[in-house]
Amino acid sequence: MKRNISWVVLLVMLAFSSNLQAQSGEQFQLKNLKSAIDIQPTMWGIFFEDINFAADGGLYAEMVKNRSFEFDTPMMSWQEANEESNPSELVIINLEDLKPENPRFARLKLKGNYTLLNEGFRGMGVKNGDLYNFSIQTKLQKGAAPMRMKIALVNAANEEIGAAELMVENTAWSTMKASFTAKATEEKAKLRLTFEGEGELDMDMISLFPQDTWKQRPGGLRKDIVEKLEALQPGFLRFPGGCIVEGRVLAERYQWKKTVGAIDQRTGLVNRWNTEFDHRLTPDYFQTFGLGFYEYFLLSEDLGAEALPILSCGIACQFNTGELVPMDHLDPYVQDALDLIEFANGATTTAWGKLRADMGHPEPFNLKYIGVGNEQWGPQYIERYIVFEKAIKAKYPDMIIVSGTGPFPDGEDFDYAAKELKKLNAELVDEHYYNTPEWFLSNANRYDAYDRNGPKIFAGEYAAQSVAIASPDNKNNWQCALSEAAFMTGLERNADIVHMTSYAPLLAHAEAWQWTPDMIWFNNLESYATPNYYVQQLFSNHAGNKVLDLKYGKQPATGADQLYASAVLDEANNQLILKVVNASDKDQDKLIKLGSDIKINTKAEQIILQSKDLKAENGFSAPEHIAPQHKTIEASSKKMTLHLPAQSLSIFKLDLQSVNVQSR
Ligand code: AHR
Repeated sequence: MKRNISWVVLLVMLAFSSNLQAQSGEQFQLKNLKSAIDIQPTMWGIFFEDINFAADGGLYAEMVKNRSFEFDTPMMSWQEANEESNPSELVIINLEDLKPENPRFARLKLKGNYTLLNEGFRGMGVKNGDLYNFSIQTKLQKGAAPMRMKIALVNAANEEIGAAELMVENTAWSTMKASFTAKATEEKAKLRLTFEGEGELDMDMISLFPQDTWKQRPGGLRKDIVEKLEALQPGFLRFPGGCIVEGRVLAERYQWKKTVGAIDQRTGLVNRWNTEFDHRLTPDYFQTFGLGFYEYFLLSEDLGAEALPILSCGIACQFNTGELVPMDHLDPYVQDALDLIEFANGATTTAWGKLRADMGHPEPFNLKYIGVGNEQWGPQYIERYIVFEKAIKAKYPDMIIVSGTGPFPDGEDFDYAAKELKKLNAELVDEHYYNTPEWFLSNANRYDAYDRNGPKIFAGEYAAQSVAIASPDNKNNWQCALSEAAFMTGLERNADIVHMTSYAPLLAHAEAWQWTPDMIWFNNLESYATPNYYVQQLFSNHAGNKVLDLKYGKQPATGADQLYASAVLDEANNQLILKVVNASDKDQDKLIKLGSDIKINTKAEQIILQSKDLKAENGFSAPEHIAPQHKTIEASSKKMTLHLPAQSLSIFKLDLQSVNVQSR
């Protein structure tokens, strides 16, 4: 009998062991829903840079690479097939100063039959049943007989999977178009143009787009990718980078004025990432600017995100040449910033406002933020920033200017920039952190001790690196994503000073990347979200509007018991939202004690992002291997246990009882 009783005791103990664990140790506490800390609508945003084929070959849905023969090697990505006995001749004409923005075109001396093949961006992604729109600028030599142009998409076996035909008759430059439907799905299709006839034909701007772009805009953006951006509900869109803003040399900096207006009048430029890393050479990486500043503003508007353009401040990338514009030659750079504001917001009677209207957007874009320089450091940056700041504020006093502390989150250059920018009362300072998962965990309290009267913070580029910064072996694995989530609870807790944040980089082509990790990966047909994406999405979709004072024991949860947490109030949805990271390899059950004024409904939602395997990743074959799981849980105002699975991020959505709204 005695023996039986001890078994019963043991069984009871085992049955309640998780509760016993929950009742031991520290508890979470939230005393009330009062909050003095507003969360900015810009808190969780997007950093876009044309790196990893993110624009040309990615978001910008153009399928033809080197469409106007402007790459350094004019025939790069084009292949010719010619008659052996009587070959036609193709030459590249360069009009130089006569047409500086897009000087080259191809001239074909056709002697019967000739074929041109474009390889696309590591192939062309074609979907069975989808419509494709081809266009080309042509000019036939006066007096020549009409020429036949056969347009076809071909698969790897060179079989036609979609085709159309045009007769070229025009003897002045004009754009010809043809549309056709694909008969098969192919990831690596090519565009084949076959010419039949005799005579001389000039051609330029050879283009192929899917009809099914984002919002069905002709010449638009890849729908699946924009949909993923939209699902993030971003507060802002920063563009166009990144180091791409700066250029390896000043001549290769991003100049927004060359990216607006008619597509064929935008001046192409080498992409600075093409040969940046010897281990990931991409010599065929150029910028056509089909996705230019107008399109970035439009995308920001579509996404309901504040536009945040970043401009060159007159310093080329300091990891490359660090070329400087002399201080007495800075005016054109400053003028670019002033003109950009006019382009975005100016009346349609102004020169740049008129261009915006002519491009299709008479209403202003309502630009509120502008960034001066990307990752600059040293006194040269500060002295240039001062000039920009003075000029911008003199003309546009309400414009919020983003400055930066350079590439690293600490060290001499960081300290110098932080100190100087503070002295200058800088409004919003961009800090970058590419570091180990351990760094992210141990920096969850980074902003707790920041000066509340100093500049506001823009955590403008961050991502945990599984190996090391710029290592090609970095992975978008769960360990990195989880550590970012832990760090983000710290960003959220400090939303009084942290006003903007963005993971970087955003996009990567699976076969043409230079930098990893990246938030979204794509090939020519599909894209998938990484665990890091889902972390961003969970924070952004549950942003709330007030930070609450959640404690673990007596302190914020910044790592005790490997727990990290933050709490927000979402007044629009009358919800209390908790974000809790359990970075340990054990499930933890933790009580949360709510103040007596806080009344919640008895059913709540817990969204869990988790993996037992810290090395786990998503991929094309398992895009949702790690993805949010939703479940309904019991909730109680009096005593509630938060079940925190090992190595997980949990979002608890607790509905507040309506009577409670007044008691805030
Ligand atoms: O995100 C990749 C690069 O990292 C950015 O271009 C640059 O700003 C940073 O060094």
